[in-house]
Amino acid sequence: MPFHSFIEISPSISAFFWKNSEAIEDLCTEILLKESSIERLKGMQSIEHKKGFLGVRKLLEHIGYTDFDLFYDQTGKPHLIPEAKQKSSVEAIKTNHPIVDIKHISISHSHEFSSICVSTDEKIGVDLEKIKDRVMRIAPRFMDISHLENLTQEEQLKKATIVWGVKEAIFKIKNETGISFPRHINELPFTLNDKEGTAFLTYNNHKECYCFKFYEIENFIFVCATPKK
Ligand SMILES: CC(C)(COP(=O)(O)OP(=O)(O)OC[C@H]1O[C@@H](n2cnc3c(N)ncnc32)[C@H](O)[C@@H]1OP(=O)(O)O)[C@@H](O)C(=O)NCCC(=O)NCCS
Repeated sequence: MPFHSFIEISPSISAFFWKNSEAIEDLCTEILLKESSIERLKGMQSIEHKKGFLGVRKLLEHIGYTDFDLFYDQTGKPHLIPEAKQKSSVEAIKTNHPIVDIKHISISHSHEFSSICVSTDEKIGVDLEKIKDRVMRIAPRFMDISHLENLTQEEQLKKATIVWGVKEAIFKIKNETGISFPRHINELPFTLNDKEGTAFLTYNNHKECYCFKFYEIENFIFVCATPKK
């Protein structure tokens, strides 16, 4: 199964998911890549990483863009070139939801899934993370573990993965070296049923407030953060 799903996070923010089950050779012949992307792809060690990268390009095509419309700044943060014009978009045709005038894009891939999230106004950061036991071992290093109290083991795993995703997502918006996950990004208490929450970034004598929403996709957690208006 290639295209997996679509989530309308808000009227101006949409996320798209690709499940990388195709052979790498098929993906390579289907996608037109610019020279710098071909070079980057060649340098990737794992098949999983290559598939994740190509899955992102498939999603770009799905919403009417191509690899040629995407560029990275010096920090590795992705952007769509301002003059990029959307070609016919499968999503626009299918959902009656044309996603035009995209201003921001955020990308994440994890194991067999790739995701892109696009916004027509506010800044966004996303993270897609597989739910794995390992997160419990590192949780004390990145979060306030009192937020995991009174939960079953399964709930703790999910919540710790969400909190990790929140911090990655906010980092991707702010994108400043020196930000520490445990010291500078802190979530207010929330429950798994809330499906959303609030977190603060306290850094360089500034306090910024962010909203986040989270979703479970198979055994993955997807988090999307935006600055609070
Ligand atoms: C950059 C970073 C956020 C990427 O996250 P990740 O979980 O490793 O990988 P993801 O799949 O979620 O995201 C990768 C995508 O993020 C995007 N990205 C990379 N650097 C970025 C940056 N500086 N800002 C925003 N987005 C960035 C890219 O699109 C990349 O995918 P692509 O290159 O294939 O297009 C992460 O590696 C990082 O550097 N974090 C530093 C924060 C930190 O201090 N962590 C440890 C604290 S305890």
